[in-house]
Amino acid sequence: MRRRCNAPRPDANRTLSVIAVFNQKGGVGKTTTTLNVSVAVAKRGLAPVAIDLDPQAHLTLAFGIRAFAKGDSCYSFFAEGKPLAGMLRQTPQGVRLLPGSPDLSKVDALHASDAGISGKLRQGIAAMIEETQQRGPVFIDCCPMLGVLTLNALIAADSVLIPVSADYLSLQGVHRLDSALNVLEQRLKRKFVRRVVITRYDARRRLAAGVQEELVRRYGSNLCNTRIVENVALAESPMYGKDVFSQSPASPGARDYRALTEELLSTGFFG
Ligand SMILES: Nc1ncnc2c1ncn2[C@@H]1O[C@H](COP(=O)(O)OP(=O)(O)O)[C@@H](O)[C@H]1O
Ligand SMILES: [Mg+2]
Repeated sequence: MRRRCNAPRPDANRTLSVIAVFNQKGGVGKTTTTLNVSVAVAKRGLAPVAIDLDPQAHLTLAFGIRAFAKGDSCYSFFAEGKPLAGMLRQTPQGVRLLPGSPDLSKVDALHASDAGISGKLRQGIAAMIEETQQRGPVFIDCCPMLGVLTLNALIAADSVLIPVSADYLSLQGVHRLDSALNVLEQRLKRKFVRRVVITRYDARRRLAAGVQEELVRRYGSNLCNTRIVENVALAESPMYGKDVFSQSPASPGARDYRALTEELLSTGFFG
């Protein structure tokens, strides 16, 4: 794990990676990416955890979990300090999921003024790792807002995976996104390892190639070589509570998320 960290941290001996899947724009493929990359990682035998930190709880739904004990979600962690380890759900896909819930939308209003709230998830993940002897990567599916929840995710993270959809408005948003991460890096006195992945790529649109050119210019080698195409199998699989590999293993979407995961593993982004 690459880390440039000036200050000593309480959980500095851990060996796994925590990855925030983040973009403050909605609909760019954060949840789709968290779902399919974490499942691809599970297929490689790496025992990942996925945390659904979005009040929309789309990741939880996409994993096919529609009913779980009220109180066993990320909200209980923020509201009552319930340990994360006891709330992990083993999914058929081999990913252990920490479910989200609509209650998460209250966290900003209830806890924004609590001193130390933004480091709470980092501590919670460190305790979870110790209790469960977790060794695989931890993926956090962020919500499209820079509030208490996303700040918690970024402070807990070693690296940030940024899906950017191949359209004009998404491209406009990356400047704001970079500024937000730069400010946070200065505050935390450490750098995030960043990777940007182009999603929803449609080669028939001339705009898509232009977006790619601009992202290459801006991010250089931090832009993944793998692009995720616009593909109906990726849009439909959550409806069946499935990842794209079990729903449509030969689809272009499955091919691309397999390739993206291999690229991220082989370049040491997580492991
Ligand atoms: N590559 C893709 N091809 C087709 N549909 C996609 C693709 N990526 C995401 N989608 C669909 O677009 C919508 C938004 O994606 P989602 O992953 O939920 O974005 P976010 O989490 O950033 O809001 C969802 O309906 C999803 O199924
Ligand atoms: Mg989402």
